[in-house]
Amino acid sequence: MPENKTMYYSNYLQLDKICNAQYPESFKNENEPAHDEMLFIIIHQAYELWFKQILFELDFIINVFAKNKIDDNSEDLNLVRHRLHRIIKILELLTQQITLLDTMTPMDFLEFRNLLIPASGFQSVQFRLIEARLGLQMNTRFNNDYYKRTNEGGFSEKDFNNINETESDVNLLQLINKWLERIPFFEIDLWKSYKNKFPLTDHLHPFWSDYRHIYKNGLNEKETDRINDFDFIFFENKNNNDVKLLQKPLLSAAAMRAALFIMLYRDFPVFQTSYQILDGLIETDNQLANWRQKHIDMVRRMIGMRMGTGNTSGRGYLEGALNNNYIFKDIAGLSTFLIERKNLPKLPVELIQKLSYNK
Ligand code: HEM
Repeated sequence: MPENKTMYYSNYLQLDKICNAQYPESFKNENEPAHDEMLFIIIHQAYELWFKQILFELDFIINVFAKNKIDDNSEDLNLVRHRLHRIIKILELLTQQITLLDTMTPMDFLEFRNLLIPASGFQSVQFRLIEARLGLQMNTRFNNDYYKRTNEGGFSEKDFNNINETESDVNLLQLINKWLERIPFFEIDLWKSYKNKFPLTDHLHPFWSDYRHIYKNGLNEKETDRINDFDFIFFENKNNNDVKLLQKPLLSAAAMRAALFIMLYRDFPVFQTSYQILDGLIETDNQLANWRQKHIDMVRRMIGMRMGTGNTSGRGYLEGALNNNYIFKDIAGLSTFLIERKNLPKLPVELIQKLSYNK
């Protein structure tokens, strides 16, 4: 027998708790044991463990961005990039993991489905906390009435309060907004030697004055209206009725300008980490959407048009959540406003020298 103080595999991993936490309902009392309920429980538990790891990484990322100043020469931003990448890899795994349920047929599921009602993955608090910490807010959630139920299929009062409290804390989207707003790319002192290619547009920074011209000139005749969206998003020009945007951006105009600038000059080494973080946020959204899509496909196969055990409309609800619950859509949407690399304004030396910036 190993001594008490010696590290022992099952103690270290608390396997007695984890491996003795499966109690299929169909194995209890007079019920007919349904073989596949064990898989159903273990797959959900495995998801919850990975959700826990995602929340752990998100905590770190949020704490970095919550600092008043992020030194670009510190390890912080690089660790954010690295740990965001880990979240993306976990989400990829979670999407693949759904395919395990393909080994359970709809008839196998029916053997124990009624025993679960009204429990459902809808009630996964950790999943809701991931969404909330990233930046999804109750008022923008699809069909948010479902969340407010504390009756059948809804959350317990404790869980509901926990989700609401987390939503009222600062979230990653808000912190990214602040971080981008702080980056001093456009301090006028850094643009003294910049030579404008086009006549200066009133009130615009020399860079944005040129950029607006270049972007406008690059639009084909079917897209000319885009310049109204450009002015709205990057300069909050709200006096224009021709804006075609379906939704007002969640990020401020100043944050959007910094984000576009990073996207444009991503090939400069000094922008690489920031660029990869922005790209990682877009990818996080994409991976969450991939998971939602794969889950819908599996649900369609498993229960067809029936309601979910959690009492929502089932597929209708899930499709709404898929289309509606993107969090970093403003950053993904920046591609609408890019220009060809060969037309990029040349950056002034002062700016390049300063580009080991502190934010
Ligand atoms: C037989 C397998 C499954 C079926 C038939 C199924 C079905 C559903 C349905 C119909 C909903 C909508 C809520 C409701 O009315 O119940 C839902 C939501 C959800 N399920 Fe599943 N599910 C299955 C497996 C899983 C697994 C393995 C997970 C992993 C954790 C999961 C996580 C979720 C989550 C997080 C939601 C909320 C999604 C959102 O709000 O966008 N489900 N599920």
